Amino acid sequence: MCGIVAAAAGNNIVPVLVEGLKKLEYRGYDSAGLAVIGANAIERVRSVGRVAELESASAGTQAVTGIAHTRWATHGVPCERNAHPHISGSIAVVHNGIIENYESLRRELTAKGYVFTSETDTESIAHLIEATLKAEPDLFAAVQIACRRLVGAYAIAVIDQRQPGKVVVAREGSPLLLGVSETGNYAASDASALLQVTRHMVYLENGDIAELTAGSVKITRLDGTPVDRPVHVSQLSAAAVELGNYQHYMQKEIFEQPEALANTLEIVGGSKTIQPGIFGAEAGNLLADVDSILILACGTSSHSGYTARYWLEAIAGVPCNVEIASEYRYRTSVANPRQLIVAISQSGETADTLAALRHAKSLGQQKTLAICNVPESAIVRECALRFITRAGPEIGVASTKAFTTQLAALFLLTLVMAKVKQRLSAEQEAAYIDQLRHLPVAVHKVLELEEAIKAWAQRFADKQHALFLGRGRHYPIALEGALKLKEISYIHAEAYPAGELKHGPLALVDANMPVISVAPNDQLLDKLKSNLREVEARGGELYVFADADSEIPESAGVHILRLPEHYGELSPILHVIPLQLLSYHAALVKGTDVDKPRNLAKSVTVE
Ligand code: F6R
Repeated sequence: MCGIVAAAAGNNIVPVLVEGLKKLEYRGYDSAGLAVIGANAIERVRSVGRVAELESASAGTQAVTGIAHTRWATHGVPCERNAHPHISGSIAVVHNGIIENYESLRRELTAKGYVFTSETDTESIAHLIEATLKAEPDLFAAVQIACRRLVGAYAIAVIDQRQPGKVVVAREGSPLLLGVSETGNYAASDASALLQVTRHMVYLENGDIAELTAGSVKITRLDGTPVDRPVHVSQLSAAAVELGNYQHYMQKEIFEQPEALANTLEIVGGSKTIQPGIFGAEAGNLLADVDSILILACGTSSHSGYTARYWLEAIAGVPCNVEIASEYRYRTSVANPRQLIVAISQSGETADTLAALRHAKSLGQQKTLAICNVPESAIVRECALRFITRAGPEIGVASTKAFTTQLAALFLLTLVMAKVKQRLSAEQEAAYIDQLRHLPVAVHKVLELEEAIKAWAQRFADKQHALFLGRGRHYPIALEGALKLKEISYIHAEAYPAGELKHGPLALVDANMPVISVAPNDQLLDKLKSNLREVEARGGELYVFADADSEIPESAGVHILRLPEHYGELSPILHVIPLQLLSYHAALVKGTDVDKPRNLAKSVTVE
């Protein structure tokens, strides 16, 4: 979604703004812009399309104070007029989030004579601050007053031509952090934008406002109360957000999965047993009283939840439900204070998941666990327990390594719950832990299938539609395969539990409908084989991801790729890898923008 970079420094900050926006490109955007305090007036450059175009358009611009933005359209179409920064009089503003009372503000400010030149909600913030400055000339104080009138979610950065050398930023509901250094002070919506200048980060809380100059940082609450926020030294390595030898971030992240899993599972160490404490100091007591689990998540993160449901019920014997966060938050549900709420999110900032978590808490459900890849995120901060996956930064919009590390975390939760419920013998526990420990090696072997998968991708990249089939704990993997294919290759794909085929979707099957099947050698394989014969009999072309020992014969319309080893309960983690590779290579053949697919954003911080 939208990204913010702001800087007040002792030297030219335009390259810092542009480089920062480049680092935020992965979040998804459709236009970009920057504004700096020039010699006589605010200098603003905006462009529709890539940050590279903004960079060319701003070549030659120099300044020591400025703000910049990548916009993902919500109010108003993507066009230069709607791109940020928005200017009113001597001030310029960039904004992430959504202002819910913008229509009434717009009416009020129009009545005062302000002329709106865009369709955005942001422009009303610019005019509101400008109007406030007439009575309160200090920018910091004026932004404080104006923010109190905003309803909704925002992170903003503001400059004023009449107060050079100063940037004022504020947040409520949208992420914003400061980067502090001896040569300048900065703000951004994501730490990766600031690693180029500093590792010293200050995370602002909701309701904080800050004033940055090249040599000072002042932070207060919106009511003026001073606050002291700690400085964190970011552990993010700049290399982790570089592409290196890979063609795309998605490719890099698919291949990073062995390492991401090894890092995530490091917490188990060399032990043969696992303790509830890996989910937080309170976990032992809190989990002992849990009678059921409700998983809340969106998109790919919900697919890891659906997979975990099979594990939690089969291994731990704990009733488990999974709900799409955007549905749960608006549904009247029956609260159960003994139920554990598990919020799963790569970013930890997904608006729907956060709102669903808050909704559950408001119903009295206080037993909460975050499974998340970003330690400082809102979802982690608002849960009683947490497990931080250590996938490293995920830049490609299509989630890959975040998904498999979530699965690893959820399997650990399953083992802990099974122990709490006394359903796991010491031998079973040690055997599962051994299997987890071997997982990075097993994933590595699956990645070696890439060449064969490339050839498959060539065969169906010209298709309009595809069906994905799976059964049991591999049905969510089929769902994930279909989501990956549609989001990056734009091929329409749907997933079904294979047994559902004859209840409707079989009508779609013909020679133009590739059917991709996840077929591990488990207790459902024989059932699945009958489903596949139904497809074959209708002339459908089957692409089957089987295990080395799955007895499925290859024939003219049945193509088979065999994963090196069958992995029992953990098999979903291996079987999703070829589906990620298949989507990636189909997208390459089609020439789509793999890391930044159209209309999508990495972190969905608006509803
Ligand atoms: C798809 C994808 C999305 C996200 C979803 C939730 O590849 O990445 O479906 O999984 O937007 O995002 P997080 O996990 O950040 O809450």
